Amino acid sequence: MSVLVTGGAGYIGSHVVRLLHQRSESVIVVDKLSSGIKGRIDSAPLIDIDIAAPGATQILVEAMLKHNVTSVIHFAAAKQVGVSVEQPEFYFEQNVGGMTNLLQAMREAKVDRLVFSSSAATYGMPEVGSVTEDLDCKPINPYGQTKLIGEWMTANAARAWGLRAANLRYFNVAGAGWPDLADTATMNLVPIVFAAIKAGKSPVVFGDDYDTPDGSCVRDYVHVLDLAEAHLAALDYLERDHRENSVFNVGSGEGSSVFEVLEEIRLVSGIDFAIDIQKRRAGDPPKLCADVSRIEATLGWKAKQNMHSIIESAWAAAK
Ligand code: WQD
Repeated sequence: MSVLVTGGAGYIGSHVVRLLHQRSESVIVVDKLSSGIKGRIDSAPLIDIDIAAPGATQILVEAMLKHNVTSVIHFAAAKQVGVSVEQPEFYFEQNVGGMTNLLQAMREAKVDRLVFSSSAATYGMPEVGSVTEDLDCKPINPYGQTKLIGEWMTANAARAWGLRAANLRYFNVAGAGWPDLADTATMNLVPIVFAAIKAGKSPVVFGDDYDTPDGSCVRDYVHVLDLAEAHLAALDYLERDHRENSVFNVGSGEGSSVFEVLEEIRLVSGIDFAIDIQKRRAGDPPKLCADVSRIEATLGWKAKQNMHSIIESAWAAAK
């Protein structure tokens, strides 16, 4: 029996691969290494293909049969919100096309358990600051749309051929479970700020005039190791005969503002950097935090880390 992890050489995927290895599971990684790093996956065999490419389905079927795959964790996707607005066709080809090939392969290879990396971006700009999974999803960018469509696709597969799926809607992931698994991309607040202060520059804050306690945006930050644990809890959940839910928010349930994150970075790094406040960034909701009561009640998962341990682990890895 083994677990196939698409995008397993990525920042989040590699944390899940390492936890699976720690509990002696056999893992196969599929990753085209466009941003993934082979050194992150330890001893796992790597199939370095683009799952959205023509012919990928048959390669996936053969890999699933050869390695006796019984479940899949699907991370591989394009994930930059801003880029998705400029290149919507590429995002649909990669994220929806990749999911299509993966589900076709799973159906043919009779692999019926899937944990899907979805996103809080499916919510768009909700009216409420703390969202439950029942909220009507209105994604405001192609990236969020592709993640919501991915959830629809797993629901269709469940009805059509009995797929057992857990769709995890990630909030803001940061930190490092191990220094060698740091987030090396500078696409999100924490790594962007680290890159700026290490270069002696002032980090940029996109707007301080929001209707929030300190004027900066509030988000729900979750440690990547906590997030990885949620994937293992979801895999175990799929073994149960009765599964009342398939969509789960994964967050801390706590909100932190941009200024609060920057203050934690000052404390941990010891660098008293200045801030460059610029105008708001399009598409940013003032507050977006997870109501995490469902995942706690159904999977028994709760975030253990806090903002200090998130920033401390990220900074130790970045150095
Ligand atoms: C966080 C806050 C920015 C950079 C994204 C994706 C979402 C999910 C989580 C995958 C915002 C502010 C940022 C900077 C800043 N990812 N900021 N200066 O936009 O909340 O969500 O990551 O599923 O899909 O959209 O994350 O890290 O870009 O921004 O002030 O240099 O930090 O305005 O308020 P975001 P982010």
